[in-house]
Amino acid sequence: MTLIGVRLLALAALPVLGGCATAAMEASPVTAATEARGQVVPVEPAEPTWAAPDPEMDRTIDALMARMTIEDKVGQLTLLTSDWESTGPTMRDTYKQDIRSGRVGAIFNAYTSAYTRELQRLAVEETRLGIPLLFGYDVIHGHRTIFPISLGEAASWDMTAVEKAARVSALEASAEGLHWTFSPMVDIARDARWGRISEGAGEDVYLGSQVARARVRGYQGDDLGATDTILATAKHFAGYGAAQAGRDYHTVDISERTLRDVYLPPFEAAVDEGVATFMTAFNEYDGVPASGSRYLLTDVLRDQWGFDGFVVTDYTSINEMVPHGYAKDLKQAGEQALDAGVDMDMQGAVFMDHLAQSVADGKVEMAAVDRAVRRILEMKYRLGLFEDPYRYADEAREKATLYKPEFLEAARDVARKSMVLLKNEGNALPLAASAKRIAVIGPLGNSKPDMIGSWAAAGDRGTRPVTVLEGMQANARDGVSVEYAKGASYEFADEGKTDGFAEALALAERSDVIVATMGEKWDMTGEAASRTSLDLPGNQQALLEKLVATGKPVVLVLMSGRPNSVTWANDNVPAILHAWYPGTQGGHAVADVVYGDYNPSGKLPVTFPRTVGQVPIHYDMKNTGRPIELGEPGAKYVSRYLNTSNDPLYRFGYGLSYTSFAYSPATLSAPTMGAGGSITASATITNTGDVAGEEVVQLYVRDLVGSVTRPVQELKGFEKIALQPGESRTVSFTLKPADLAFTRGDMSHGWEPGEFRLWIAPSSGAEAATPVTFRLTE
Ligand code: NOJ
Repeated sequence: MTLIGVRLLALAALPVLGGCATAAMEASPVTAATEARGQVVPVEPAEPTWAAPDPEMDRTIDALMARMTIEDKVGQLTLLTSDWESTGPTMRDTYKQDIRSGRVGAIFNAYTSAYTRELQRLAVEETRLGIPLLFGYDVIHGHRTIFPISLGEAASWDMTAVEKAARVSALEASAEGLHWTFSPMVDIARDARWGRISEGAGEDVYLGSQVARARVRGYQGDDLGATDTILATAKHFAGYGAAQAGRDYHTVDISERTLRDVYLPPFEAAVDEGVATFMTAFNEYDGVPASGSRYLLTDVLRDQWGFDGFVVTDYTSINEMVPHGYAKDLKQAGEQALDAGVDMDMQGAVFMDHLAQSVADGKVEMAAVDRAVRRILEMKYRLGLFEDPYRYADEAREKATLYKPEFLEAARDVARKSMVLLKNEGNALPLAASAKRIAVIGPLGNSKPDMIGSWAAAGDRGTRPVTVLEGMQANARDGVSVEYAKGASYEFADEGKTDGFAEALALAERSDVIVATMGEKWDMTGEAASRTSLDLPGNQQALLEKLVATGKPVVLVLMSGRPNSVTWANDNVPAILHAWYPGTQGGHAVADVVYGDYNPSGKLPVTFPRTVGQVPIHYDMKNTGRPIELGEPGAKYVSRYLNTSNDPLYRFGYGLSYTSFAYSPATLSAPTMGAGGSITASATITNTGDVAGEEVVQLYVRDLVGSVTRPVQELKGFEKIALQPGESRTVSFTLKPADLAFTRGDMSHGWEPGEFRLWIAPSSGAEAATPVTFRLTE
């Protein structure tokens, strides 16, 4: 165990510690609300199909609960890891005994039909009541067939692709006996230092909400009882992405307005889409750890949003309420968590060890325990586990499902859709046909483990992933050779070393073009992977400079799970392609883009800073009272840095193509929109280049004056369109007043009359298009 782990244990007596448009825009949760003169009164989200009343289910559960002791009930509220593939130390090695004694109702980190069947048999045949287990796992961006990391998928801005990736994940996971994934992670992240930025959909509220919906649809389908769908989990509720200084697990201190306007909407969208479960966050909100927050788990989640599923904690996060300084001991922490609205305790065994006593002491109402038990039993019932506990453990299906060719093809397709062309001076990409000798140089060029990034579930890191070198060799044109030299290292400790440089430079000298494959090691993002620098780690930057100095054309294929401040590369390397961690078929996907078999269409879901000193930086900032534009160039008393521009390196929504697109000025259906009305904004986009391409057309709005200050831009819609050379298409977005709602000065949610600016543009940023103006009237 780590030193930190030891210290925490000593502090808290933890038993375990885990790291663990068309035109018309899609209806947002807000548009599903009733409007009345500038007032938006939230209504309960549409009932998910699985929540429909089921008298038979109620009878079954009533009868079962009548036979349950308090120990049986607490067992249903307990989730433990199996002894392999855990995300943190496994300190409870008695889990099989715990299953037999009915003390655990759900297991995670166990998969394969055979293994889940074996564990299920213990629960069904060896316990007094025979209640089936629920099997969960972190299936985040693929189960066996690994798709690009979640941030990369979001960069596709293609909701069909995102849904497809989740669908394939569900097909594979369910075929291995799993019922439940701890995904989607819907935390808005605006601090590139935070390693978990790689796990979500980036910085934006609207895009993040659409991605959340697509993932929930992909995992759950429209029938929770089908054996090829799995329960989804919206996590980490809430505010986790706002960790101070980008340090994982750190304190969060944000206003309620920011919580409501920025961090909560993707969660609300997930509820609206029918997500079955929620996971609490490690952090505190307003001084209260999320697992003990009645405000979050009951007032907002249940009372305001009408969430009907169950809430699981994150790994030992009830226990962590002790070191947080919110509970004096584990027993009190368990009472606070249950009272707040937690239903299931992940790995901490706090409910297991203390809840019965808390009930006996009158500290916890039996009704509260019963409510949580019922929510969990309902989910097991809806999965069909009471009918047949082994229905997901089907070896024949498992064999026929994993790594299906069509899944691998989907992974390749989503991977190339996720890639973002950041720079392409002189059309350095796609590689010219005259480039006969290609040098792939850099630590990420032939590294299988890195291809699939962190949180790669049951993905094979050793043999299956196709590396960049392999992909480029396999897809090379006749007469083209592709050679490799590692050249540099991404390990922090290797900064200053030059060991591999000579070999790499020799290869560079005898090549026509250099594809530099650089970035971060796969585990430099994900959980517990924060950095204070966004530069290329190790000695990569030094080698990159030497490669450029050879005078050979250089293309940088960047691979990482966060925005990197590749400012030098942007100034000195002709072409940069961000490939994230592209997954099992990643090497083929990189080859498709680099050789021009696929025209890149990704756009950044997150702002890339020039330097870490600009963090947090995001496109929808406030204007301030002294915006830089108010001063003369170089003016002192405006909001700026002395040594760096305010502008990011690459804007949110930015990404190039091998073709070019022209935008007509936006037009509006009317100059004003009334309280009960709508307004349609349109622009015509033309492919002005020589090749077919896809473009993500984006709609931004600015509310000029409010009862509280408003962001300089907010994304309110997007549509990805495909255009042949010379082809034009008019894209229209329809807005209603409710789409312009926010948390107003008096903390009510709704829109306000006034003047708005609107852009239809290829990216965020004032220079991206000329705005039009409309009025919203009472
Ligand atoms: C801790 C992580 O924060 C969470 O995202 C994950 O689902 C659990 N560990 C389970 O592995």
